[in-house]
Amino acid sequence: MSIVTTKKITKVFPGGVRALDELDLTINDGEFFALLGPSGCGKTTLLRTLGGLESPTSGEVWIDDKDVTWSPPGERNIAMVFQDYALYPHMSVKENIAYPLKVRKLPKDEQEKRVAMASKALSIETLLERRPGQISGGQQQRVAVARAMATTPNLYLFDEPLSNLDARLRLEARTFLKQLQTELGVTTIFVTHDQSEALAIADRMAVMDKGVVRQVGSPSEFFHRPANLFVAAFIGSTPMNLLEGQVLQGNVKVGSNTFTIPESYRGKLQEGQEVVYGIRPEYVSVVSSNADGVASGSVKVTENMGTHYLVSIDCGGTLVRGTVPDGQQPANGATLHFLPDLNKVLIYDKVSGNLI
Ligand SMILES: Nc1ncnc2c1ncn2[C@@H]1O[C@H](COP(=O)(O)OP(=O)(O)OP(=O)(O)O)[C@@H](O)[C@H]1O
Ligand SMILES: [Mg+2]
Repeated sequence: MSIVTTKKITKVFPGGVRALDELDLTINDGEFFALLGPSGCGKTTLLRTLGGLESPTSGEVWIDDKDVTWSPPGERNIAMVFQDYALYPHMSVKENIAYPLKVRKLPKDEQEKRVAMASKALSIETLLERRPGQISGGQQQRVAVARAMATTPNLYLFDEPLSNLDARLRLEARTFLKQLQTELGVTTIFVTHDQSEALAIADRMAVMDKGVVRQVGSPSEFFHRPANLFVAAFIGSTPMNLLEGQVLQGNVKVGSNTFTIPESYRGKLQEGQEVVYGIRPEYVSVVSSNADGVASGSVKVTENMGTHYLVSIDCGGTLVRGTVPDGQQPANGATLHFLPDLNKVLIYDKVSGNLI
């Protein structure tokens, strides 16, 4: 078990790409930590740097109370699953899984036991004699995960380990990973493109952007209090409504509509300030009358989400998304009145992009 700390690590690749930019991050002992961010933001580079496969241009990597910045991978006791699996093509599936155990000179019967455990957990028992070239991409990915899970390192690094699995297998595999990780208590860093996966299984998570961390916190903090507009736009299966407006007499004026400023923001905003009024579609509900604080617009698109409908409402050129219960689907073009839940409203400064 390990605490992992990066101290201002910067990685500039030949050619000048700054993949990591003075990045500071601490991952706690035994934590399941998810790393999210758009393609190219530096997730793989960070993992490779932690694993010792890449050396930083500047800054330090610490594991527990040891500076490992310049230690070779073999000295770090880390198991890593790469984005591209990196299986040995000339070895069978079984030999692939057993390889790290063989390197660590585990007794043969212990090797057998662990291979059996990991391959059963990932449903690849019937593939053990085949070579990587003879199995599908999703199966290769499961072999790579099994190979990591068969070892008992101080730190797991997973780079999108489930990206090639179908929805059902993916759900099963992630539940298994989480369960095993909880049992073993091994610190785990897990890169994923799938934010619902991160929200579901992480103890804490970080969102990266252009080589820096934009927010670190619990999944619930990310969902309820995104710290800036970048994270607010990034997190949530349907993105948050981010309505640009101006503070005017206790309200935020967005086009021809006015939105009420919650009590908790009184005194924190200046008259005329340019702000962004943030509210998740889940917290925008349709009401029958046009009372105080109620905005109106016409229905543009209605999407069936199973338990409810997601409606996109055109409010004088600004699109606001809200929800209506199943069975109350509005007609396209109909005028709707809607009300944000004031307890859920977040207001951002438009200039800095930060949550006020
Ligand atoms: N070996 C390399 N040489 C030059 N540039 C590189 C190298 N590896 C990565 N980069 C660049 O560094 C940046 C970060 O890449 P990285 O692979 O860490 O992104 P990522 O967050 O893992 O993206 P993805 O989600 O697509 O996997 C990108 O701009 C990438 O093009
Ligand atoms: Mg990557």
